[in-house]
Amino acid sequence: MIAKPPTDAPAAPLAGSASESSEALRRRAHELIPGGAHTYAKGDDQYPEGAPAFLVRGRGCHVWDLDGREFIEYGMGLRAVTLGHAHPAVIEAAAAAMRQGANFTRPSPLEVECAERLLGLIRGADMAKFCKNGSDATTAAVKLARAWSGRDLVAICRDHPFFSTDDWFIATTSMPAGIPQTVRDQTVSFRYNDLDSVDDLLRRYEGRIAAFVLEPAAVQEPARGFLEGLRDRCRADGALLVFDEMITGFRWHIGGAQTLYGVTPDLSTFGKALANGFALSALVGRRDVMERGGLTHAEERVFLLSTTHGAETHALAAAIETMKIYEREGVVEVLHRQGARLRAGLEAEARRQGVADHFQILGRDCNLIYAARDADGNPSQAFRTLVLQETLKRGILMPSLVVSFAHGDDDIDRTIEAVGEAFAVYRRALDGGIDRFLEGRPVQPVFRSRE
Ligand SMILES: Cc1ncc(COP(=O)(O)O)c(C=O)c1O
Repeated sequence: MIAKPPTDAPAAPLAGSASESSEALRRRAHELIPGGAHTYAKGDDQYPEGAPAFLVRGRGCHVWDLDGREFIEYGMGLRAVTLGHAHPAVIEAAAAAMRQGANFTRPSPLEVECAERLLGLIRGADMAKFCKNGSDATTAAVKLARAWSGRDLVAICRDHPFFSTDDWFIATTSMPAGIPQTVRDQTVSFRYNDLDSVDDLLRRYEGRIAAFVLEPAAVQEPARGFLEGLRDRCRADGALLVFDEMITGFRWHIGGAQTLYGVTPDLSTFGKALANGFALSALVGRRDVMERGGLTHAEERVFLLSTTHGAETHALAAAIETMKIYEREGVVEVLHRQGARLRAGLEAEARRQGVADHFQILGRDCNLIYAARDADGNPSQAFRTLVLQETLKRGILMPSLVVSFAHGDDDIDRTIEAVGEAFAVYRRALDGGIDRFLEGRPVQPVFRSRE
């Protein structure tokens, strides 16, 4: 039985360990669900022992676990909840739509309104199709590109960590089990900011690549001319350029990173922040390409993203409200400002505690991550675990350093202070050996072939 979440009453004490009952539920989850969670990135192997086993409630950037412990968090629903948990206006919009009915036999007008609003922001795109997962949207882009070009190969950027749960991408990871070799052979890769690697692919597979798929930016910003060069090469070759804007969309710029960088892809995909955590994603793009999924053209038709739940009314209403808030309240500027405040504060603390060479903050201010390094400067899962362990004890849940619109100055400042204390432990572990400080097994990367 799940404990009742706390109300808006003052926060429970931050630290403490998981109770017997939440441990029991965690064990039960592993009996019922492979991996104990429905998303690998939320799994037990990603967090130290003693981490909150289950979260039951969120408000803004604060979350509460099953034992009533409160945390300021920097993961925000795998970056989906950019406005903060349980944003009242978004919840109200979704609830109002739900009260009218969640799903109908014919389309809802919300489908048109949501498409119009999204395409009003993503200026280079003419048409949109909605679905539930980012993976489905990106896979649909690949399929559409294959149909449009009459080619089979897809080229992905191998410096970007994730595009889809589907075979064309998972085949390239260290967990390709269950994917036939013939499918694996259809995906080739290029390097970010490396037009030579693009040219190399175009030479090796001349006239065979349907699409080049990449995030317009991830940890690295685009080098001057890279995205433009890729755009030109795709055009010349007849391959489509696909931007996966699952993370950059609604973070880099309200019009997507494509607007910020001034490079228009043929197709692009959005999700995550689009509906502030409600399940909605979108494929958008050029009319002549997108139309292949429609009813009014003479070419062979493409079965494009047709799902039972694709246009649930409440997710569309949540997205419409989310986009209104973005337009009205300058959300993207706040994400950058608060991320910059967090970064500056943490970097100062890292210097003060003598761990600046070992704890590195990476990425754009609106989307920060960190790398933990051992005494020799090598990336270390053990030191990452120590950071998670020591910050969790101090009421901070930071798988990454991703801020939301709801992170106020007080939240950021409290975080800097808490992480500073964790850095002091980090320093002692660098000097005296980490084994004395780690209280359990280290965390592991999601993609690995064995236990
Ligand atoms: C860049 C990127 N593309 C695609 C996806 C897949 O989205 P979803 O998990 O909604 O299927 C993710 C998910 O983390 C992502 O980060």
